Amino acid sequence: MTSAWQRTAAGANLLGSDGRLGVTIFEEMTGLAVRHGAINLGQGFPDEDGPAEMMEAARSAILSGANQYAPGQGIPRLREAVAEHQARFYGIALDPWREVVISTGATEGIAAAVLALAGPGDEVLTFEPFYDSYGAMIALAGAEHTTVPLHAPAFQPDPAELEAAFTPRTRLVLLNNPHNPTGAVFGRETLERIVALAARHDAVIVTDEVYEHLVFGDRHVPVASLPGARERTVTISSAGKTFSFTGWKVGWISGPEELVARVRTIKQFLTYSSGTPFQEAVALGLGYPDEFFAAAADTLRAKRDILAEGLRAAGLDVFVPEGTYFITADTSPLGIDDAPALARRLPELVGVAAIPVSVFCHLGGAERTRSLLRFAFCKKAPLLHEAASRLAGLADAL
Ligand SMILES: Cc1ncc(COP(=O)(O)O)c(C=O)c1O
Repeated sequence: MTSAWQRTAAGANLLGSDGRLGVTIFEEMTGLAVRHGAINLGQGFPDEDGPAEMMEAARSAILSGANQYAPGQGIPRLREAVAEHQARFYGIALDPWREVVISTGATEGIAAAVLALAGPGDEVLTFEPFYDSYGAMIALAGAEHTTVPLHAPAFQPDPAELEAAFTPRTRLVLLNNPHNPTGAVFGRETLERIVALAARHDAVIVTDEVYEHLVFGDRHVPVASLPGARERTVTISSAGKTFSFTGWKVGWISGPEELVARVRTIKQFLTYSSGTPFQEAVALGLGYPDEFFAAAADTLRAKRDILAEGLRAAGLDVFVPEGTYFITADTSPLGIDDAPALARRLPELVGVAAIPVSVFCHLGGAERTRSLLRFAFCKKAPLLHEAASRLAGLADAL
């Protein structure tokens, strides 16, 4: 029997990392970016804070004594705000007392959901590439990780491959929509297909929707809002991306009472409860008018376009994302077939850092995505212009 850390390390793809335990590729690339004075488009966090009013709310919560453990389930005001948000944007009715739990970021929600709902002998199905914590948590739970490939350029699942990936042992489908790292948004038809297959196999859907408000086309469609989905779906989201406060680590889990209770049973022994003053501030933010959320997406769309144009001008094939703050680009037009190796040289070559997409895959998927890089565009526009002009020198620098 292997120890938990060994299973976790094996489940997350550490292929791209330099092999030091506990050091992710993101930290490795950040280290290279710092060493070479490169613009860090590797790690996905914004270089600007979210609303000043929310910061002020956190500050006054601290000053007025919100400094002890919050209830394990989260402060009532935030649970109510989450329920109101789901009703306002998606028409999903939730009981804030029984069907909502606050977590330490979406990361803890994912951990608690996978540990609660899957175990040895079960298969957990994800799309590949997958967010790295999925592989780690599935392995930690002792379950088997199965995948459906997302193919360039649209990164949508092929219906036949999706159907074939389900087996009688599929207990959980771990969905991420909008999708990191590809920026793909799954359409209603794909989501309906996933719901139908989950129902046929009596599997639970865990859906990570942290980029729900960072979409550039149609409004986000949560899988839980589709017919037949609600009773088998646990939805996870967080404040980090929507409000540009990734360091606050406030997330939430919602769904039918029985599933949420199982997840809460695990969550209470992971962190018990999460940052009290930040919960107060996030409750305020979730109540902002629709225009606030639309403006955040509009600002980000303009940034996406700056970086997409820069990457195209640098000679890469760009897959324009429909959501998230990541762009995937293919380096093969420049004669590159080893993006992980290029990613390690990029900070020194042109002064920009990116992440190879293959680190979000198992071995087979890593081969398929070997020439792809992921760039984050949640940065100030002048910095993105500067990154674009540096990247313009890539072909010559190679
Ligand atoms: C798909 C996805 N899920 C979850 C997270 C983590 O969210 P949080 O910071 O709220 O834990 C991220 C952060 O990059 C992400 O990209």
